[in-house]
Amino acid sequence: MDKILIKGGRQLFGELDISSAKNAYLPILAGSILCSGNVTLHKYPKFDDVTNMVEILENLGGKKNIVDNTLFLDMKNLTNFEIPKELACLTRSSIFSLGSILGRFKYAKVAYPGGCEIGARPIDLHIKGLQALNVKVVDRRGYLTCDGRDMVGGNVHLDFPSVGATENIMMAGVLAKGKTKIYNAAKEPEIVDLQNFLNKAGAKIKGAGTSTISIEGVKNLYDVEYTPVPDRIIAGTYLIATAMCGGDVTLNGVRPEHLQSLISKLDNNSCKIVTKGDKIRLSSSGRFNSIDKIETMPYPGFPTDLQPQIMALQTISKGTSLIVENLFETRFKHTVELVKMGADILIEGRSAIIKGVNKLYGAEVVATDLRGGAGLVLAGLVADGYTTISNIGQINRGYENIEQDLHSLGADIKRISL
Ligand code: UD1
Repeated sequence: MDKILIKGGRQLFGELDISSAKNAYLPILAGSILCSGNVTLHKYPKFDDVTNMVEILENLGGKKNIVDNTLFLDMKNLTNFEIPKELACLTRSSIFSLGSILGRFKYAKVAYPGGCEIGARPIDLHIKGLQALNVKVVDRRGYLTCDGRDMVGGNVHLDFPSVGATENIMMAGVLAKGKTKIYNAAKEPEIVDLQNFLNKAGAKIKGAGTSTISIEGVKNLYDVEYTPVPDRIIAGTYLIATAMCGGDVTLNGVRPEHLQSLISKLDNNSCKIVTKGDKIRLSSSGRFNSIDKIETMPYPGFPTDLQPQIMALQTISKGTSLIVENLFETRFKHTVELVKMGADILIEGRSAIIKGVNKLYGAEVVATDLRGGAGLVLAGLVADGYTTISNIGQINRGYENIEQDLHSLGADIKRISL
């Protein structure tokens, strides 16, 4: 079993190229099910979640070829509208495929999804949205079976701006007869990216990035070549790492406008941030003053996917801070591990009160989920002595090679096999 071993205490210096976003790639792969042609996707990232999603497409009958960093998918002859349990449990994004499988086949059978254990993660909004498009959904024995023979465009009012439900319904509307409108849609940049990808393939979608999305059904989607947006969560993780360790790091190939909620928290607090085009440069003295309060919110609010990393920063900041987790009710599992390293954290429901300590100490910790694992890596970078992180399969789901990236910036970090 691989582990990550870190000896804390090094500052970070240098430049890093940021990969494309997992959360853009996954729905775009689901969207490619709607294309009865060739799909070419550049900057193919080697995240386990993305590899698993490609396996799901192959199981539906898609053919893949990877040359350098480009993924070629031949989606002409799909034969299967079912995602079995053993594949669905590998990634939560399997559920995002319901809408596109329905669009392509008018039927879909998808097992309940896997993903991070960070809360109940219901799928009621996905189901209600599809029902509003006249899809008949049967939920039995761990499978959702959908009959979309009478699927037509319709109006969907989401009770909450769920990212996955917005994407799923958007994809269902693409090949449905008539117009679909999604109200209270999520506004994440990855949803805009999905719209741009689908429109390039021939879809007629407007409004992604706002709270109302309109889709006019079309008959077919065709060949498409696309480069998904860079990963704002990976970029954010490395910005926070530099803020914690001290140093001077430039990230290349990013979209600074996607990171404003983080930049506004870090800039001028022992950090200086300069953005220019697709670059962000952060220099830091490494002694941060705690941020009074951070609340996770749907975009453009502070992302829940950066909550564990910003918590790691707060553990060694001067003063006390409050983090309120509004998105996922049990997304504080990493705190137990941070406490093993000497952090002072009190959890009360959805709130965490963090009293900054002078030092964290190296310990043997477990990556509880993908972003929680990233938070532990950051804590290890500043801890006294050695930190060993196990269960790093969770981290591989969304970081291509976190230890190589940080090592290239000067951190003493490596992957070890035990
Ligand atoms: C996506 C991201 C994930 C991120 C999350 C929130 C991908 C592949 N994953 O996940 O990294 O942490 O957005 O930014 O893009 N909800 C319901 N019913 C539903 C669906 C969701 O109640 O049918 C609730 C969830 O329990 C949660 C909230 O809505 O409390 C947000 O979830 P959602 O936006 O759907 O997250 P995901 O799309 O699963």
